[in-house]
Amino acid sequence: MQKMEYKFLIDEAKKHLRYSYAPYSNIHVAAAILTDQGSIYYGVNVENSSYGLTICAERSAVASMVSNGERKPIAIAIVTDLEHPIPPCGACRQVLAEFNPEITIVMHSVKSGETSVVKLSDIFKNPFLLRSTKKED
Ligand code: THU
Repeated sequence: MQKMEYKFLIDEAKKHLRYSYAPYSNIHVAAAILTDQGSIYYGVNVENSSYGLTICAERSAVASMVSNGERKPIAIAIVTDLEHPIPPCGACRQVLAEFNPEITIVMHSVKSGETSVVKLSDIFKNPFLLRSTKKED
């Protein structure tokens, strides 16, 4: 992925940051997933009065991608209003690995403008997988 493409995906995620539902933590997160088809799917964190039921932005975006018939994410941008970019939590790493253990992760803080880019496989080495992600099913 080229730097220009990172910026594009960050800008897409930024457009959705305002939809984040985070009345409890006040930490707003939005994600934009780019697929091999060139489609983009969005997600935001959705908190709940029963705190543990909170859904992260990354998993919201994966649910949207799958709900729209796609299963091959190649990159995800995660933007936050925290001071520094945030990496996906452990649960989100596992959910991303289900569809692409090598996905490119672009993390960005709208507050500082800081961006960092990694491959999921660099930060999540041994995902639990029951099937190959190379298969079509
Ligand atoms: N959050 C995400 O959306 N993604 C992550 O990977 C880490 C945490 C959200 C969940 C919660 O609404 C807020 O950030 C504080 O934990």
